[in-house]
Amino acid sequence: MHTTPILVIGSTGKTGSRIVKSLSEKGYPVRPGSRNSAIPFDWDRPDTWAAALAGVNAAYVSYFPDLAFPGAAEKIEALTVAAKANGVRKLVLLSGRGEAHARTCEDIVRNSGLDFTLVRAAWFAQNFSEGYLQGPVLDGVVAMPAGDIKEPMADVDDIADVAVAALTDNRHNGELYEITGPRLLSFAEAAAEISAAAGIPVRYMPITLEQFHEAMLGIGGPLIADVFTEICRETLDGHNAYLTDGVQRALGREPRDFADFCRSAAASGVWKKAA
Ligand SMILES: NC(=O)c1ccc[n+]([C@@H]2O[C@H](COP(=O)([O-])OP(=O)(O)OC[C@H]3O[C@@H](n4cnc5c(N)ncnc54)[C@H](OP(=O)(O)O)[C@@H]3O)[C@@H](O)[C@H]2O)c1
Repeated sequence: MHTTPILVIGSTGKTGSRIVKSLSEKGYPVRPGSRNSAIPFDWDRPDTWAAALAGVNAAYVSYFPDLAFPGAAEKIEALTVAAKANGVRKLVLLSGRGEAHARTCEDIVRNSGLDFTLVRAAWFAQNFSEGYLQGPVLDGVVAMPAGDIKEPMADVDDIADVAVAALTDNRHNGELYEITGPRLLSFAEAAAEISAAAGIPVRYMPITLEQFHEAMLGIGGPLIADVFTEICRETLDGHNAYLTDGVQRALGREPRDFADFCRSAAASGVWKKAA
């Protein structure tokens, strides 16, 4: 059992919040690491890193906003240097499936000299319930530049379980776990399943990359629009349309099905319209 804290970077996010909860429930000492934590960690303020890393044995690393953003690789590299300087032994990196920039960051961690586990995740099911598509689901139209490709949407509960296993058991050192759900789903099929579970009309509207870029410009400005459009161009072209066995190899169980995700998200009330 760890007696030194496990640092969770991105501790209030979709993956990090689950990892903090699970580690705490299992009795591990946890140090949340986001901008408003008791000991803050801010990617944009490297002066916060040493205090967050001090006395830590292992750290979960989810980068914000995405490993494809300019400067991400340099920050991951600098984090590995700071981690070593502060006595950290192991990093568990959350990476994205089928993304070249994410591969670069995986290689930085792999070659850092630290123990590591790489958790390379498919597109999150929870994007529909806790992420940027929650609003569109409530509005009844999910517009994405995904045509009719199929994606093996991954459940964030599974990603968190794999990360917790990696953070607490050295048998996962050196492993790359590619996490997908157990089923390929088109966005139209996902919208139909959400609609049935939530009891509200939800449909998928395929849009072009140019239309997606235009919409993102209004939400986040040019950099966000450029990078997320490139991520869509790179990942939503069908080349990720196959299942992998990362959950089975790491945890010895099957991944959670999208139908289970829909049932529990609907029950949680996230898809209920305000009266
Ligand atoms: N969504 C997908 O389908 C998908 C698929 C594969 C991989 N990923 C990867 O998942 C990662 C995001 O993880 P997530 O979805 O669990 O997180 P998330 O829900 O997007 O939450 C972001 C987290 O980062 C923290 N944060 C924001 N700005 C920060 C800063 N400047 N310094 C330090 N922390 C900051 C936030 O906390 P505060 O705001 O409280 O600081 C929050 O805890 C990205 O790297 C993405 O590439 C996503």
